[in-house]
Amino acid sequence: MGKHILVGVTAGIAAYKIAELVRYFKKLEAEVKVVMTPASCDFITPLTLSTLSQNPVAVDLYDSKTGEWTNHVELALWADVMIIAPLTANTLAKMVSGQSDNLLLTTFLSAKCPVIVAPAMDLDMYQHPSTKRNLEQLEKDGVTVIPADYGFLASGLVGHGRMQEPQQIGAFVCDFLASSDEFQGVKVLITAGPTYERIDPVRFIGNHSSGKMGFEIAKAFLNKGAEVILVTGPTKMVLHHPNLHRVDVMTAEEMLGEVQKVWQQCRIGVFSAAVADYRPRNTAEQKIKKNAEEMQLELVKNPDILKWAGSVKKQQYLVGFALETSDAEAYGKSKIESKNLNAIIVNSLEDAGAGFGHNTNKIKIIDKSNKIYSFELKTKQQVALDIVDFIRENYEI
Ligand code: C5P
Repeated sequence: MGKHILVGVTAGIAAYKIAELVRYFKKLEAEVKVVMTPASCDFITPLTLSTLSQNPVAVDLYDSKTGEWTNHVELALWADVMIIAPLTANTLAKMVSGQSDNLLLTTFLSAKCPVIVAPAMDLDMYQHPSTKRNLEQLEKDGVTVIPADYGFLASGLVGHGRMQEPQQIGAFVCDFLASSDEFQGVKVLITAGPTYERIDPVRFIGNHSSGKMGFEIAKAFLNKGAEVILVTGPTKMVLHHPNLHRVDVMTAEEMLGEVQKVWQQCRIGVFSAAVADYRPRNTAEQKIKKNAEEMQLELVKNPDILKWAGSVKKQQYLVGFALETSDAEAYGKSKIESKNLNAIIVNSLEDAGAGFGHNTNKIKIIDKSNKIYSFELKTKQQVALDIVDFIRENYEI
C-alpha cells in the first residue's frame, strides 16, 4: 500500500482498540505514525502504539528534557490521510473552534490531507445538541465523520456512541484512500454470489459462494466513480451507494435474463458469480416427500451467462473468473478463448486462504495474449483493488 496514515488518539475508553487499528494498517504495508493527546496516554500507552506502528509516538508540543519543539507541520504534511479515533466530545469541540492547546490539535490545524474522525462517547454526550452541532460543523469544514455505532457503552448504557470497530474504520480509510473519479461515466456490470436452483418449494442446489469478492469489486468500482449494475444471487452482503443498481436473483436463468437486459449498455463486465452448472429438469410444485428409499434427480445444463456475454460483446471489456481445484492456469487460458474474454482471474482452491468462505484470496490475472500477472495472498478488499486497477490500465486499449 505504501500510504502514510497519521492516527490521532484522544482520551476515550475506545482508545484501547487503536492498537488493532494500527495493526490493520501495518498489515496492509502502510506507513503509520501516531499522535496522541496527553490524556489519551492514560487509556493506552505510547509504547504500545510506537511498537505496533514502528515509529515514535508524538504526544507533547515540546520535549521537556531537551526543550526541543515537535514539528507538527512536518507531521501533518507527511500524512496522506489523518484518522482521529476515538474522537472525544472535548477534542471535537476544540477542532470546531480551532483551539490548539495540544500537539494533536496543532497537527489537525496544519493538515493539508483529508481528515477522518470516528467519534466515541457516552449516549447522552453523543446526543447532546452541542455534539450534533459540532459534528455537523466539522463535516461542513470538510472532515469526514464515521458515525458512532449502536451498542454497549463503557458507562453500562446501551445506545449510539460506540466507536466503530477497528476493522470497519480501517476498511473505511482504505476505501477512502482508493477513491477517485477514474471511472466517471463508465457503466460496469458485475455478477456475484451463488445461484440457487430450485428442486421444490423448500430445497435447492446451491454452493458456498458468499458473494464477497463480487461485492468488493463493485465497491472498488463505485469508489472510483463508476456506475455499477450488480446482479447477485442470494447473499447476506450489503452495499449502499448512490451509483449502485442492485438486482437480486435466485437462479442462473434469472441471472441470465437480468444480464441480457443491461449488458449492451455497459462498458465493462466482471462476472464473478458462482453459477450452478446444472439445475433440476423439473421443479416440484409441492415439497417432495421422503417415501422412497432412493430418488433420482434429473439435471439439465444451465446457460453459460459469461459465454453469452462474450458471444455478443462489441467494444466491451469482459472479465471472467475461474475457480479450479487443479490446473487453474491452463483452464483459465482455455476459458479466455472459449468465452471470448479480455482477461480471466484465476484462483486455485489449492492455494491456502483462497476461494469460498475466506476473507482472503490469491489470484492470477491472465490476459488475452496469455500474459500472466501473479498477486500475493491478500484480503478480498485488496484483491478487488488490484482487479480494478488492472482493468483501468487495460480496458481502453
Ligand atoms: O466455465 P466456468 O463455470 O468454470 O467459468 C467460470 C466463469 O464463468 C465465472 O466468471 C462465472 O461467473 C461464469 N459463469 C457464468 N455462467 C455459468 C457458469 C459460469 O456466467 N453458467
